[in-house]
Amino acid sequence: MKKISIDLENTENKRDVIPIVNSYNEWDPLEEVIVGVIEGASVPSWHISLKATLPEKQWKFYQEFGGKPFPKEQVEAAKNDLEEFVHILESEGVIVRRPDVMDHNVAYSAPGWQSPGGLYAAMPRDTLLVIGDEIIEAPMAWRARYFESFAFRRLIKDYFKKGARWTTAPKPQLSDELYNYDYEEPGENQEMSYVITEFEPTFDAADFIKCGRDIFVQKSHVTNEFGINWLRRHLGDKYRIHILEVNDRHPMHIDASFMPLAPGKLLLNARRVLKIPGMFKSWDVLYAPEPCIPQSHTLYMTSPWINMNVLMLDHERVIVEKNEESITKALKNFGLKPIPCPFVNFNTFGGSFHCASLDIRRRGVLQSYF
Ligand code: ALA
Repeated sequence: MKKISIDLENTENKRDVIPIVNSYNEWDPLEEVIVGVIEGASVPSWHISLKATLPEKQWKFYQEFGGKPFPKEQVEAAKNDLEEFVHILESEGVIVRRPDVMDHNVAYSAPGWQSPGGLYAAMPRDTLLVIGDEIIEAPMAWRARYFESFAFRRLIKDYFKKGARWTTAPKPQLSDELYNYDYEEPGENQEMSYVITEFEPTFDAADFIKCGRDIFVQKSHVTNEFGINWLRRHLGDKYRIHILEVNDRHPMHIDASFMPLAPGKLLLNARRVLKIPGMFKSWDVLYAPEPCIPQSHTLYMTSPWINMNVLMLDHERVIVEKNEESITKALKNFGLKPIPCPFVNFNTFGGSFHCASLDIRRRGVLQSYF
């Protein structure tokens, strides 16, 4: 086995034509990216899987408005933020592609359950996992996200025709067996438990983050061990998947907790990553400063820690939220070149630059950084 992996490494390192889809880490120079769209966003209907992950002060909103479109003026404001993000990426020399604008407020059903609508196509990082030249559609655990990858199919088909590999992880059934319907958040001294069972493999792509041959993942309310093991076996010996311990009672997506920025540079959420894996001992660590976003700002789906949900354009250039002055300053002192972009209205919908984008091509090869 050892010999095979060395041969592969040599072949890939000698390659001078970069495949159309090529992404092994968070920091190689970014050449092409997908940026989500917010139009057509629909409020998911209330379900135990939402209760486990979403901010408590928003529960009522979902109970009342589930199955209806999100407020128009908020969608419009988020759309403007996305346009500015796209504009900045293009001025920095990155090719930007967008998924289809679709009406997500359309009911669908499966054996045993139904949903009054989907969610959106705003967060490609949640739905699609790009590893090397392969695009993997994630088997998402929310019923409201069952068809989310369809808005990206036009792009995926095009990348496939240009040479990319395309995989859909086993389509989950999302039947009642997947959910712990009596789930209650564990108390402080209680062991962590999750709203999903091990009935079948599920994961969101955004629970994984790549550092070359080493890929880090958190178990969460959408990603179970079955899902992690599916990906581990699918990727084979070329990659090592490490499960990271994250101190978060509402885990869903690793990229507001653990963000490798460049070789030797790690951005962490001090409240959530209490034990840094030993393999990072020679890396410099920056703990994200407290977010600046006002308490009063509506965040339907996330904590304010999306201040650390940044996007690296290469080893130095990093896109950060314009009003997040503390982290902007900290990143500058960390040796990076922050590029500010207004995004607070997009943040409302549950993510920032990392969530709203998906690396399609970075100029680089598969390497080990540890
Ligand atoms: N679910 C992550 C958070 O709320 C993004 O911080």
